[in-house]
Amino acid sequence: MTSKFREQFHIPDQSAYLLNHSVGCLPKTAKEHFQNHFLEPWNQHGSGAWEHWLNNLTEFNAALANILNGEVQQFCPQVNLSSALTKVIGSLPAAPSGSHILLSERDFPSMGFVIQNLCKSFGLTARFIPEDTDLTDLNQWDEVLTDKTWLAFITHVQSNDSLRLPVAEITALTRQKQIISVVDIAQSAGIVPIDLKAWNADFVIGSSVKWLCGGPGSGYLWASPSAIEQCEPMDVGWFSHQDPMEFDIHHFEYAEGVRRFAGGTPSIMPFTLSAQSIRTLDRISSAVIFEHNQKLINLITDQINREMIRSPLEQDQRGGTLAISFKDDQKALEAMQRAGIACDRRSEGLRFSPHIYNMEEEADQLIEVIHSL
Ligand SMILES: Cc1ncc(COP(=O)(O)O)c(C=O)c1O
Repeated sequence: MTSKFREQFHIPDQSAYLLNHSVGCLPKTAKEHFQNHFLEPWNQHGSGAWEHWLNNLTEFNAALANILNGEVQQFCPQVNLSSALTKVIGSLPAAPSGSHILLSERDFPSMGFVIQNLCKSFGLTARFIPEDTDLTDLNQWDEVLTDKTWLAFITHVQSNDSLRLPVAEITALTRQKQIISVVDIAQSAGIVPIDLKAWNADFVIGSSVKWLCGGPGSGYLWASPSAIEQCEPMDVGWFSHQDPMEFDIHHFEYAEGVRRFAGGTPSIMPFTLSAQSIRTLDRISSAVIFEHNQKLINLITDQINREMIRSPLEQDQRGGTLAISFKDDQKALEAMQRAGIACDRRSEGLRFSPHIYNMEEEADQLIEVIHSL
């Protein structure tokens, strides 16, 4: 089964590419799609390419809507998560004085930089959930989501150890307490099946560079219709306007939906490519991809010393990455590189992330190197 899917991707010339938490592999049809839907319209029509190019953005939104179970009009392309988060927080009505933004010490640092910077500008506090808190425990969330919490930042899957949070249950709490929720799906989109309708969050931000195999530059923002009504983005442009072709410098009106976050002339290239990548993964199906990923992870965890494993052993608490800690992580990394196993190193140890195109043989090869250390 795997080889059928493996043929659909360009895999780097290494024996085991396990860096899908960093950059997913390019689907083979993406190049031709890019040629036909970005370069050719430009070659043939010049400025007339815009009609085709704007349709590429709609297709990107539609591909996301299909794979994440959202509505196409709820997505707005963004450069990356940091920028999307900055725009979202900056667009909201002023927070009551004395309130805070809640985040975890385990969130991706860039998200923390954005939140702390904005808190400084807006006179808010960034309140961190301590690193050793069990983020899967709803009682802990119930405790930290206080009447002073204005916004809660929730990372679906942690990048260092792949811990997966029960987002639907956490957003049920934030809704009940009338706290704004922003969910980060950078490390889950494309690997863990996601149902945005079931989550019912206020905002969700993500990128395509990792498991979605879409390359850098094609981030996105999803917003619920009720949340969007109160947003007045600072970063606007003619594509944020209700009627971009009105061209009256004295009149600006926010577009009705999430398009108000579009800004000026949109970038097209990364989204044209990503749309095709996301469709390729969606055709395989998130459920099939995740099942395969977890099967390979289980193959590895079953055959190594459990004490080395830094990712959750329970499948319902884990994303697509397996973090393993060695006596000497640097030495282990060098051994992996010599063996042609592509992985990287973070605070929890080395990270290994199998995608649909990885094979059982590669898991066996990894087990062999681990045993040799
Ligand atoms: C959980 C998580 N959030 C966010 C990011 C990246 O954010 P940005 O798109 O702003 O670079 C990463 C990148 O590794 C990540 O793992």
